[in-house]
Amino acid sequence: MTGPTPTAEYATTDPLRVRIDTHAQHSEHPDDPVAAVVDALELTGGEALADIGCGDGRFLAHLGRRGHAGRLVGVDNSAAMVTAAAAIPGVEAVTGDAEALPFGDDEFDAVTARHMLYHVPDPRRALRELARITRPGGRVAVTVNHPATCARTRGLVIDRAAEHGLAPVVGMVNGVDSTTLPAMMAEVFGEVRVDRFDNALVFDAPAPLIRFAEALFSFCGIDPASPHRAAILDAVTTDVDHWFATHLGERWRDPKGYIVVAAQPCC
Ligand SMILES: C[S@@+](CC[C@H](N)C(=O)[O-])C[C@H]1O[C@@H](n2cnc3c(N)ncnc32)[C@H](O)[C@@H]1O
Repeated sequence: MTGPTPTAEYATTDPLRVRIDTHAQHSEHPDDPVAAVVDALELTGGEALADIGCGDGRFLAHLGRRGHAGRLVGVDNSAAMVTAAAAIPGVEAVTGDAEALPFGDDEFDAVTARHMLYHVPDPRRALRELARITRPGGRVAVTVNHPATCARTRGLVIDRAAEHGLAPVVGMVNGVDSTTLPAMMAEVFGEVRVDRFDNALVFDAPAPLIRFAEALFSFCGIDPASPHRAAILDAVTTDVDHWFATHLGERWRDPKGYIVVAAQPCC
């Protein structure tokens, strides 16, 4: 495969951190994806929980802060993410692949895969792994975005990347989104519950939008090591500055959203 890969994208925690911070600071309506997953799992605080594709471990850190007493395990296939998660007191951080999880059958009461299934080459295989490590009657929750999430900002970057012959690559995201996940999970788990969250990012100044746009580069076909990176960032910066200069008093609004799909493995 040519072009950006999840491995290169998550070799550092930086772009993910910028995206998470942007969603926390620039959402039009209050956005609490942690609470959405906690509610879907109906957590009581004593569960053994594994978070697959845990990133820097903030979901597990949040559970720890709210007094979760059960085992908290984070799994990721990025060394940088595992190192970050391992630094959180009370969290077991494990290097592993969602398609072949390093756990026994029925080992957990609750398993999550938040905003990561779209990077996995065989998402059905990963879902079967989530089912395998969850005890019968336990709960699984998976979150993915709507397909048009942040399409306006992505479009800005994609247009400038195209001037350098670059385009989004299939190996970076696999097409699992809010339109495809419920049926895919129903194949593996039977009955599923879907909660939908619609929102938008809003920016009233160029700097945070430019920062966010740069954090989307891999999703727009621009490898972290691309020689065109600086030129594309310059062009995007010019576009954003021009937009704010010509739309005085307006905010850049970019619709976004995600679903949480919850399921209970039976036997
Ligand atoms: C978009 S980030 C989401 C991180 C975290 N779940 C969150 O919501 O903040 C995707 C994460 O999944 C990890 N990842 C991607 N493919 C994976 C795989 N096959 N197995 C395990 N982790 C994977 C990446 O390294 C990255 O940390």
